[in-house]
Amino acid sequence: MKKTSILLSAFAATLLLFGIAACKKEATGTDLDLLNKAKATAGFVWYKNTDALLPRSSGSGHSEALLRTRYNATAAASLDTAFKVSNAASFAEGSLIVKELHTNASTLSRYAVLYKQSTHPDADANGWVWGYIDADGKVAEPAANKGSACRNCHLQADNIDYMLMNKYFP
Ligand code: HEC
Repeated sequence: MKKTSILLSAFAATLLLFGIAACKKEATGTDLDLLNKAKATAGFVWYKNTDALLPRSSGSGHSEALLRTRYNATAAASLDTAFKVSNAASFAEGSLIVKELHTNASTLSRYAVLYKQSTHPDADANGWVWGYIDADGKVAEPAANKGSACRNCHLQADNIDYMLMNKYFP
């Protein structure tokens, strides 16, 4: 490739990146509701009962380096005594699972949310609403897409009702 075309490609790539960033919408509707639900921490318990940040797993579709996952009281009923997702778990209506994605030890950058609410207009066929919202309130993946960007990966072998923490952090 010639120098000018390399420069032009770099320029185009930069424009594209900024374009995508600028296109991100402020959360409203379901996305805003899920963001607010995710931000509230009262009554949640942590996976394996620890709030330590974990390094992302090899199978992760989430690019942030660190993560930790918590469960509201309803979802926590599907955890076993070690605070892991029990084998036959099928999460009850109202279950809320929040994965905090941290860019580094001091920056929570995004929330990945699974909310079981079968009658919700944005629920998928299994009754889950999928949220992906940046901590600054921008939508990373709209809930209205019903997890189309998430489901295939979360349906891989050994998922439990979509959950993968149990597989990658046994
Ligand atoms: C390529 C695979 C892949 C894709 C795509 C993916 N995930 Fe995940 N997800 C994982 C893995 C693996 C974990 C376990 C923790 C880790 O290593 O990140 C996980 C964990 C989670 C958790 C914590 C609950 C649990 O035990 O699984 C939530 C919530 C979640 N993802 C939501 C989402 C959402 C929302 C999307 C789509 C916007 C999505 N994921 C797309 C692989 C994926």
